[in-house]
Amino acid sequence: MDAELQNKLKKEAARKAASYVKNGMVVGLGSGSTVKMLVDELGRRVKEEDLQFTGVATSIFTAQQAKSLGIKIVDLDMVDSIDLTIDGADQVDSNFNGIKGGGGNLLWEKIVAINSKKIVWVVDKSKVVDTIGAFPLAVDVIPFGSQHVMQNFDKAGYEPVLRLDKEGKPFKTDSNNLIIDLHLHKIEEPTQLADNLIQTVGVVEHGLFLNMVSEVVVGKEGQPEILVNPN
Ligand code: 5RP
Repeated sequence: MDAELQNKLKKEAARKAASYVKNGMVVGLGSGSTVKMLVDELGRRVKEEDLQFTGVATSIFTAQQAKSLGIKIVDLDMVDSIDLTIDGADQVDSNFNGIKGGGGNLLWEKIVAINSKKIVWVVDKSKVVDTIGAFPLAVDVIPFGSQHVMQNFDKAGYEPVLRLDKEGKPFKTDSNNLIIDLHLHKIEEPTQLADNLIQTVGVVEHGLFLNMVSEVVVGKEGQPEILVNPN
């Protein structure tokens, strides 16, 4: 899919998901380019429709963008729970298992997700796949001893690559951790893999979000399609 069409589909899905936000809600705001469009639309609704809600951001970037648009942002610990979180994803399959972390924000995204009553993802149609894994799986690790974690992943056949920033330096997350991307190609046993990763000392979190999402708003030609998780 060419980038222009992909952006159009992302924008339509983001606008649809923005309509889920109602007055008085506490809303988790994800990260990434699709969520940036969502936050733009929510900012418009705040200004033009007098929408009032409280946001909890999953990244410093999202918090700054939202605040600049007049959206009230509080820390997660300031709220008891989140009514609805809207986030992007890198891939999702028909069992509602997904990969997140393309932007490196998976740790805050997962903390916000597990404290949310409802999670909705916004994606374009290219991200809905039969089997997840073609997109590299991000793993958030603490810097101390990270080369040894890399070696362990290498021995396990996970094809690990340390993520670099635009200047070629190790990419730092908002928590000052590192990201190791695993080039797994196909993830046939996501639950088993998630268990293995989280048991690796030095790993803080991984980008497998398994059956956590209630709905996926998929941007496609015509109008967005809503996939509803029956579980
Ligand atoms: C960031 C994420 C993003 O939500 C995911 O990478 C999708 O991003 P985009 O909307 O730019 O395609 O998980 O950690």
